[in-house]
Amino acid sequence: MKVTYHGHSVVTVETGNHQLIFDPFITGNSLTDIKPEEVKADVILLTHGHNDHVGDTVEIAKRNHSLVVAPNELAVYLGWKGLNVHPMHIGGSHQFDFGQVKLTQAFHGSAYTEEDSQKIVYTGMPAGILLTVEGRTIFHAGDTGLFSDMKLIGELNHIDLAFLPIGDNFTMGPEDAKLAAEWLRAKQVVPVHYSTFPVIEQDPHAFADSLPGGVGKVLEVGESIEFK
Ligand code: NI
Ligand code: MN
Repeated sequence: MKVTYHGHSVVTVETGNHQLIFDPFITGNSLTDIKPEEVKADVILLTHGHNDHVGDTVEIAKRNHSLVVAPNELAVYLGWKGLNVHPMHIGGSHQFDFGQVKLTQAFHGSAYTEEDSQKIVYTGMPAGILLTVEGRTIFHAGDTGLFSDMKLIGELNHIDLAFLPIGDNFTMGPEDAKLAAEWLRAKQVVPVHYSTFPVIEQDPHAFADSLPGGVGKVLEVGESIEFK
């Protein structure tokens, strides 16, 4: 399995049989190395309804006939746009053909902003996503502030790889993300959701270096972690 970072909160997972993408915000993502029209995805996993996470979901899903897995209200909204969706909600897990997905809580907002009509469509609660495939568990925290139940998430799951936001302002900053990393007990922690915009500018290396022995790992845009 190959897990690759593409800037902001965009992460792809290539398994033996499936291509998955988390939060495919590509158009307007100043950091990314991929083009929406080239993305291949059987599955799109969405943490919440903000535009910098839903991103190019509609275009990618229509072209690839992807399954979109998202918190219920967001899934319903995208279903009305003609996408093939699987709604879930916090605390629920489901075994798919590509692996298991469980949604965790996240402390944040969730709404899709339709810029043209200046309308905000609320899309329920935001979530984090635990994805277990090929014997490994990946935790994509989505956008969240620090919360102490991360300890429980760490106790109940053996997380091999966690993607944690460090950008501050909208999410945890580096200091809170350091505590999150400790509580989640992930074997490896990769910072995300930083430096896409000036207000979330951060030094990911300073964050990674602040974590104990080899846990922190900065993935440059386009860089991968491979599990054998
Ligand atoms: Ni957000
Ligand atoms: Mn965000």
